[in-house]
Amino acid sequence: MTLPLRTIALAAAWAVLTASFPASIANQPIIIKFSHVVADETPKGKGALKFKELAQVRTGGRVQVEVHSNSSRFTDSNEIRALQLGAVQMLAPSLSKFAPLGVKEFQAFDLPYIFDSYADLRKVTDGPVGRDLLEKLESKGILGLAYWDNGFKVMSANRLLRNPADFQGLRVRIQSSKVLDAQMRALGATPYPLDFSQAYGALKSGIVDGTENPPSNLYTQNMHEVQKHVTISNHGYLGYAVIVNKKFWDGLPSEIRQQLDGALREATRYANDIAKRENEQAIAAVRNSGKSQVYTLSEDERRAWKKALLPVHREMEPLVGAQIIQDIYKATGLDPNRM
Ligand code: LMR
Repeated sequence: MTLPLRTIALAAAWAVLTASFPASIANQPIIIKFSHVVADETPKGKGALKFKELAQVRTGGRVQVEVHSNSSRFTDSNEIRALQLGAVQMLAPSLSKFAPLGVKEFQAFDLPYIFDSYADLRKVTDGPVGRDLLEKLESKGILGLAYWDNGFKVMSANRLLRNPADFQGLRVRIQSSKVLDAQMRALGATPYPLDFSQAYGALKSGIVDGTENPPSNLYTQNMHEVQKHVTISNHGYLGYAVIVNKKFWDGLPSEIRQQLDGALREATRYANDIAKRENEQAIAAVRNSGKSQVYTLSEDERRAWKKALLPVHREMEPLVGAQIIQDIYKATGLDPNRM
């Protein structure tokens, strides 16, 4: 029996296709889009670029990481949704940004004066509390892989902020967080949640009067150019969770995933090593710019800020969860009644 020529040609084409398809797929680079909202010259920006470099080397070029910084792809109000939908594969949102997903406990990181130092913080993020929090993301289709530091926040405005009374009547840009909202109200200010990408413009145009952020974010967005005064208050912490789309990550070939895990561990060490120095350099640069006066709270003033702000811990218990707050106190040894 002879087969018609057309059938044979079709069968041959099918054989070629099925034989070469997996190989050609296997040779395609795997692209990871890593989107974030800050400048490249910040602890998070540098950490993302370090991960890009290490991922490329460790996978022999099989993985290419595209870093999209400065809200160039997504802003903080839509980036987590974009990750869930697979439009990007990797993000590092600030810990304040997970509550809308339904994981309210992350807001504990926003509580004023809950951490005294990076060392305190590590006791939480490197321990069971930090691990359990990341696990809560899995049911949302997200894997939490690491914690990256930024640092401790300064406050800025066009008036000098030394005492809680100085906040009266000020409209202050915050991240969208109920805890930060309560913090600003406790100081007598009016909180004004805005995306990070809108903060500079809002300060410049006078929509808001002041803001808070670690110095690295303030400086790299030029906020110091539109704020006459910066107060080093270290009243709160800002850090990140590095997250990936779970389906994408689980679907990677296992040796690639291991290489990427290794790259991320090293990038995490790097990001957390440079964070403190980056913030110190940023505050020095703000000082040297001559655009903003930098003031450090005296011990008495710091006590007055704490007195005004520590009640926010209790007030936020129903919202954040009393247990997570207790767990953090236990890990750090902090006793808010004795501060
Ligand atoms: C902010 O919105 O102020 C920060 O979360 C930005 C960031 O990602 O550091």
